[in-house]
Amino acid sequence: MARPLGVAVIGAGYWGPNLARNFRAHPAWDLVAVCDRDRARAEKVVGARSTVEVCTDVEAVLARPDVDAVAIATPAATHASIALAALEAGKHVVVEKPLAPDSTDASKMVRAARDAGRVLMIDHTYCYTPAVQYIRDAIAKGALGRILYLEFTRINLGLIQPDVDVLWDLAPHDLSILDAILPGGLAPTRVSAVGSDPLGAGKACVAHLNLDTRDGATVHIAVNWLSPTKIRQTVIGGTHRTLVWDDLDPARRISVHDRGVQIGPSGPDLRERSAVSYRLGDITVPALEEREALSAMVGEFAAAIREDRPPATDGIAGLRVLSVLEAASASAADHGRPVRPRHVNAENGDME
Ligand SMILES: NC(=O)c1ccc[n+]([C@@H]2O[C@H](COP(=O)([O-])OP(=O)(O)OC[C@H]3O[C@@H](n4cnc5c(N)ncnc54)[C@H](O)[C@@H]3O)[C@@H](O)[C@H]2O)c1
Repeated sequence: MARPLGVAVIGAGYWGPNLARNFRAHPAWDLVAVCDRDRARAEKVVGARSTVEVCTDVEAVLARPDVDAVAIATPAATHASIALAALEAGKHVVVEKPLAPDSTDASKMVRAARDAGRVLMIDHTYCYTPAVQYIRDAIAKGALGRILYLEFTRINLGLIQPDVDVLWDLAPHDLSILDAILPGGLAPTRVSAVGSDPLGAGKACVAHLNLDTRDGATVHIAVNWLSPTKIRQTVIGGTHRTLVWDDLDPARRISVHDRGVQIGPSGPDLRERSAVSYRLGDITVPALEEREALSAMVGEFAAAIREDRPPATDGIAGLRVLSVLEAASASAADHGRPVRPRHVNAENGDME
């Protein structure tokens, strides 16, 4: 068996410890170092009596020959500079979402990875959950029929982030899920968004995003940091069935409803054409494996490096999500006016 790949986690705040734990537990990886400007945070992640090095200096990590790859879990504004330095040092890189605060920097990261012949991956964590994999397969097999609408609700009492608004903090999850489950990925022709800051926090804490899919389905995403109730629900309505994903209900995470609305058969009679009936069928609850998505994510990162191929969530996937976020911000700044997102060139990461 090949020797484990050496990895360093940069950023040991809220999310970095989850990455460190999963790299540590995965047989394809050897966690070599944890780096944070705040030494105490890195020390806490590594724990006592460990051989994993603690450091505060990114350059020192990048100079280590035993570090094949880095995982960047620092605030979004720092992603591009750290990733570009890591790629220049010949390291493979996985970056937390969002890839960068703007698509200009993100495109540079994609090009730098291509030029260096290194893997650039984005941690779109949800894409590695059994639920998303089930939904992708169900849509691809046509089990839901033609997709009519997708509704995402992601609301809770959230940490008001210093650097991003709620749209940039939470909507990347739903956009990355869309990118993974829709045949052909995320490619809306129009995006409109509204955000509000009812408490005067200085940034949108509640936002609603609307977009369309390549096949003409309509998508609504609601994100909110002010809700005392935590909801993580997605409803995907198709002509045959409707799938409901409640990520907070492990016993019934996904249910597939064989019920819905039917419009009567078309005929010469106008009344007959508009007749609506309700189809009442079974509800199926598929058994899903319970495993941590981040373990599959770090496994995919190692496999992509070993097999010299793009990972399932590569830099281009990160760019597709960014292009929609940028369009959403532009729309929100203009009272919800629909905005056409820039097209991502999948060959070179250019934004057109
Ligand atoms: N995939 C997910 O589900 C998920 C969940 C939460 C956060 N995130 C992402 O993870 C990233 C980090 O978020 P967080 O909530 O952990 O932030 P955080 O502020 O809690 O932690 C960031 C850490 O980075 C350190 N840091 C900042 N600049 C540094 C530098 N130049 N060198 C070394 N260390 C540096 C800080 O000291 C801090 O400890 C963000 O991009 C966020 O969007 C992803």
